[in-house]
Amino acid sequence: MNPRQICKGVYWMGAIDWNRRLFDALIPLPDGTSYNSYLVQGSEKTALIDTIDPAMEKILMNQLKNIDRIDYVISNHSEQDHSGCIPFVLGKYSQSIVVCSPKAKGLLIDHLGIADERIKTVEDGEILSLGGKTLRFVHTPWVHWPETMVTHLPEDRILFSCDFFGSHLATTDLYAGDDPVVYEAAKRYYAEIMMPFRKMIQNNMKKVRELQFDFIAPSHGPIYNHPNFILSAYEDWISDRVSNFVVIPYISMHGSTEAMVNYLVAALAERGVKVQKFELSTTDIGKMAMAFVDAATIIIGTPTVQVGPHPGIFSAMHLANELHPKLKYAAIIGSYGWATKAAEQISGSIPNLRVEILDTVMCKGLPRAETFEALDILVDKIHKKHAGL
Ligand code: FEO
Repeated sequence: MNPRQICKGVYWMGAIDWNRRLFDALIPLPDGTSYNSYLVQGSEKTALIDTIDPAMEKILMNQLKNIDRIDYVISNHSEQDHSGCIPFVLGKYSQSIVVCSPKAKGLLIDHLGIADERIKTVEDGEILSLGGKTLRFVHTPWVHWPETMVTHLPEDRILFSCDFFGSHLATTDLYAGDDPVVYEAAKRYYAEIMMPFRKMIQNNMKKVRELQFDFIAPSHGPIYNHPNFILSAYEDWISDRVSNFVVIPYISMHGSTEAMVNYLVAALAERGVKVQKFELSTTDIGKMAMAFVDAATIIIGTPTVQVGPHPGIFSAMHLANELHPKLKYAAIIGSYGWATKAAEQISGSIPNLRVEILDTVMCKGLPRAETFEALDILVDKIHKKHAGL
C-alpha cells in the first residue's frame, strides 16, 4: 500500500499483514492484522508516529523513500510490532531522535539496542511543536505494556492510540465507520490483549475522554472516524457489569463430561440463561476470551487424566487466570475412572478469578440419575445468582 492522506500533512503509512494467523505464538488472528505508522508534517519538523513489525521493514522504508526529513520518531509503545523498524528509520535519518515515555527508554534500549543519546523522554502532558502542528503526549500505562502512551494532535483532532482501541483486522478500508466486523475484531483484541488491564484502562479512559478529537488512529486495524463507536464499546467492556451468560470450556475423552455439558447447556437455556460451550481441543481460544468479556459464570468441564484434570484444561485455565475476566461465579464438573483430584487442582490454578465456586459435580464413569440431579441443583443456583443481571 502507498501512503494515504488523512488530512493536510498527516498520512497513514504501514503494512497490512493479510496472512498472519498467530500473534506472540499464542493469539489467533483469523482476520490477519495491520501495523499502522503515521507521518505528521509540520512547517518546521516532521514526526513519524510508531513504526511497523520488522518482518515488513521494506514496506515502510519504501513508503518513506520520498520523505527527506524525519526529526522525531514517536514511540507510543515499545513492543516490536510497533518499534521494530525504529532502528531502520534512525539509520536512514541521521538527525532523527526517538520520543517516548521515561519507562519506554530502557525497553527500547534492551529490546532494540537503540543508543541512549538518540532517545528523548517526555512527561505526561508534555507537548512538542512541529510548527503549526502540536503533539501532546499522554501517559496511558498498560495499554498494553507499562510504558505505553498516546499522542494527541489537537490541530487536526486526531488521537494516535497505538495498541489502545486496536483491532487485529487486515482490510483496505482506511476508516472503520460503524462496521460490525471492526467491532468484533476490536472486541477480540480487547479480550486477548487488554482485558488483564481492565482497571488501569478505566483510568486511561478518563484521561482520553478529556481530549478533543474526531479520529482515533490506532496502530492495528482501521482508523475510527466515529470515535464514540469504539469509546462506548470500551466503556461497556471495562465496566463491572456482567451478563446473564455462562461460558463452559471443557474437554471430554470418552463422552461422560460431554454428556454433562450438553445437559447443562439445555437446562440453562430452558431457564433463559445464555450459554456458550467451547471444546478446548478444537476451539479458537480467542472466541473463548471474547466470551469472558461479558460472562457472569464459568463452568469448567474436565475428564480425569491420572488423578488430575486434562492438560488442555490446565492450559486454558492458566490463560483464563492471566486474562483476569470479571467472572463472578464458577463450577467444576467432570468425570473420573477410579480416583480424582481434578476439581481441587483446577480451583487451585485460578487464583486471579475472584469467583464464588457454586458447586463441584464429578461422576465416576458414566453420568447417572444422581449426576443429573446434582447438575439440576447447579442450574438452580446459577439461575438464582443471575436473577437481575
Ligand atoms: Fe501491538 Fe503490544 O503490540
